[in-house]
Amino acid sequence: MKILITGATGQLGADCLEECRARGHEVYGVSSHMFPLSDESAMRAVLDEFEPDAILHAAAYTAVDRAEDEPDLCRLVNAAGTEILARLAQERDVKFLYISTDYVFPGTGNAPYETDAPTGPRNVYGASKLAGEEAVEARLERFFIVRISWVFGARGTNFVKTMLELAKTHKSLSIVADQVGSPTYTRDLAPLLADMIASEKYGLYHATNEGFCSWAEFAAEIFRTAGKDVAVTSVPSRAHPTKAVRPKNSRLSKRSLDAAGFERLPPWQDAVARFIAELGQG
Ligand SMILES: NC(=O)c1ccc[n+]([C@@H]2O[C@H](COP(=O)([O-])OP(=O)(O)OC[C@H]3O[C@@H](n4cnc5c(N)ncnc54)[C@H](OP(=O)(O)O)[C@@H]3O)[C@@H](O)[C@H]2O)c1
Repeated sequence: MKILITGATGQLGADCLEECRARGHEVYGVSSHMFPLSDESAMRAVLDEFEPDAILHAAAYTAVDRAEDEPDLCRLVNAAGTEILARLAQERDVKFLYISTDYVFPGTGNAPYETDAPTGPRNVYGASKLAGEEAVEARLERFFIVRISWVFGARGTNFVKTMLELAKTHKSLSIVADQVGSPTYTRDLAPLLADMIASEKYGLYHATNEGFCSWAEFAAEIFRTAGKDVAVTSVPSRAHPTKAVRPKNSRLSKRSLDAAGFERLPPWQDAVARFIAELGQG
């Protein structure tokens, strides 16, 4: 199969590229340079040249706090850009896999969100990603929407790398404990996405590593696994105000993965251990 992967220089896109290549697919990975999501003619030219059977759309404007200051740019990339790409996919009748986020939900209560639960984003980024979902659903029939959360992988910056950096200079840290969700290791997610895109099991999915934790619990596990002597103090979100409001409850139900016969990802603690080994920091 010929697969175009957007966001191929990003944390998730890069691992998807590697996974799909390893499976023998013909893969073309693009970034903002060759494939700016605001430039329809550039996007059209790439699609005409490569003629993919499927598009794995992992590119996004991902600066959640900055988005509050530049909402137009965020919407241009995540909402309008996805709308253009969905239209180009519709014209060519190619399969489409769109990566979305837990931030489409308001984050109230304690129960894991089912895929069909009412949405209600709390910040600009979440609203733009939801608009992307709506564009995909409106245009396409052969689509997958996969909501993920708290991503970490070898490329780019992420919470695990930030904690390991902070461990070099801190003996104690105060970390938010009233936001609960699930970390997602890109190396675990990429094989699932590759299985999905090769299938005909279209629909809306949630996919993260198994289990729930707060950011404070996540940090404590990172320090424990990496053998760093850093004490974690649990604090409420208001102790670390951010431009963008974050949902308190980011728990995502995996029922739709089970129903479609896809395997769930390993527990998040197991993923953290493998990632720290991958970074050579164990
Ligand atoms: N990170 C998280 O915690 C998280 C959580 C939930 C969902 N997600 C979703 O997961 C997906 C992957 O996230 P990630 O963390 O792997 O992203 P990332 O590391 O921030 O990488 C973003 C990718 O998108 C590309 N991109 C940015 N602006 C673009 C534009 N205007 N036109 C074309 N491409 C553009 C970037 O290309 P350049 O290198 O050229 O800039 C890069 O390849 C995204 O859809 C994101 O919304 C992420």
